[in-house]
Amino acid sequence: MKKIYLYARFQRFWHWTQFLIISVLLLTGLEVHGLYNLMGYENAFRIHNLSGWGLLGLIFIAFFWYITTGDFRQYLTEGNLVEKIWLQVRYYMIGIFKHEPHPFKKNEISRLNPLQRITYLMLTLVGLPSQIIFGFIYFYFNELVALGMNPAWMEPIALIHTLLAYLLIAFVIMHVYMTTTGHTLTSNIKAMITGWEEVED
Ligand code: HEM
Repeated sequence: MKKIYLYARFQRFWHWTQFLIISVLLLTGLEVHGLYNLMGYENAFRIHNLSGWGLLGLIFIAFFWYITTGDFRQYLTEGNLVEKIWLQVRYYMIGIFKHEPHPFKKNEISRLNPLQRITYLMLTLVGLPSQIIFGFIYFYFNELVALGMNPAWMEPIALIHTLLAYLLIAFVIMHVYMTTTGHTLTSNIKAMITGWEEVED
């Protein structure tokens, strides 16, 4: 075995801050939605909006970091993407239970498998930005209607915003399960905390 450095300090800071902000967004969002009463509607509403701005700011900083360091290349896949994703899906469905080796080995310049690459890319470029945009349209709805937006858009926007929130919860559950499928149960999570991971030499 050898130790490799996978996550720079900024990445770990960004990842866990993002997790914290999204947890607050989900907690307050579900309260605003009417599922329970924890801090009161008004507080939940205010904190939800503030956290939305916080997440937007964090995403801008993260984009800046990923682009200027060139680390965004870790999210791109060369060659036949479908074939590579299938290899990884087959591993999660069958290979893992037969103790087969991981189809893609980790190293400093390629830490993510093809399925992680496409999932994280879609989440960061499509999922989270759409959720934030729909959230802001919903929050500033009256102002936008005054500027000429059709009020009939309110309901579909609210529905999409809620649907995306549930999809995000599904992502977090799957994501945490997937992080336990590394070399040991906790090796991936340790890497996201310390930056270092033990991999086969
Ligand atoms: C809102 C919740 C979360 C989001 C949006 C999220 C997003 C991400 C993203 C985009 C990456 C890829 C980073 C990169 O390599 O550039 C990542 C990696 C990772 N995340 Fe999360 N994460 C969330 C919650 C969690 C939680 C709760 C855990 C563990 C308890 C976790 C553990 C990890 C680990 C271990 C990795 C390393 C790569 C891997 O094993 O897949 N994440 N996460």
